[in-house]
Amino acid sequence: MSSAVLTAVGLRKTYGTTPALAGADFGISAGETVAVMGPSGSGKSTLLHCLAGIVLPDAGTIMYGGRKLSALSDAERSALRRSEFGFVFQFGQLVPELTCIENVALPLRLTGHSRRAAERAAMPWLERLEVADLANKRPGEISGGQGQRVAVARALATAPRVVFADEPTGALDSLNGERVMELLTDAARATKAAVVLVTHDPRVAAYADREIVVRDGHTRSMGAAA
Ligand SMILES: Nc1ncnc2c1ncn2[C@@H]1O[C@H](COP(=O)(O)OP(=O)(O)OP(=O)(O)O)[C@@H](O)[C@H]1O
Ligand SMILES: [Mg+2]
Repeated sequence: MSSAVLTAVGLRKTYGTTPALAGADFGISAGETVAVMGPSGSGKSTLLHCLAGIVLPDAGTIMYGGRKLSALSDAERSALRRSEFGFVFQFGQLVPELTCIENVALPLRLTGHSRRAAERAAMPWLERLEVADLANKRPGEISGGQGQRVAVARALATAPRVVFADEPTGALDSLNGERVMELLTDAARATKAAVVLVTHDPRVAAYADREIVVRDGHTRSMGAAA
């Protein structure tokens, strides 16, 4: 796959005596959304954390943009996460003291933008995710679905090459979940970001271009998503 942005071969990770990954492979191209499915405890989040350079695997190789993740220092991996990766988790994880616009601007500020420039760049993302009217509210004043839209805006605002989403709609009802998925995948395709989408839900996985299944720490390709 010549356009692959992120690939992994033979990933193994054991926590104590619990094998979380037992030889997992992965590959994703620019602009592609891949759903990572599989039962609880099968290793999906561990795979995502390894791919994002948050957890170091015990064995196996991860390549991002021609670089071996394991060859980078901790500082280099954090810099890579800040500038080239975006993250969406199940429960938003917005900073409660900051307004929605400040939350979306935060990763831009961490990569050196001024407050004014970061907020100017953040606003179109709130508009795109249909929550611009909530810009000056704090996370405690908005709904879960609105919060996930702000979290997606925050993940995309730095123009990441890869978005890692772990059950991004897991806490939403199906209508809200589907809209968030639509907005996430549309925005990612428009910006050519790759999306690694961990989900239990086949309706969420249907938004992906392709599915893989993780079972007992092994990955299996499922071809094109339904
Ligand atoms: N930090 C950790 N310390 C110890 N064990 C862990 C840790 N993280 C994961 N595990 C174990 O590794 C295995 C895989 O966990 P992982 O979180 O990757 O599963 P998952 O597929 O994401 O599950 P879920 O769908 O419930 O989120 C499980 O047996 C889990 O208990
Ligand atoms: Mg998980």
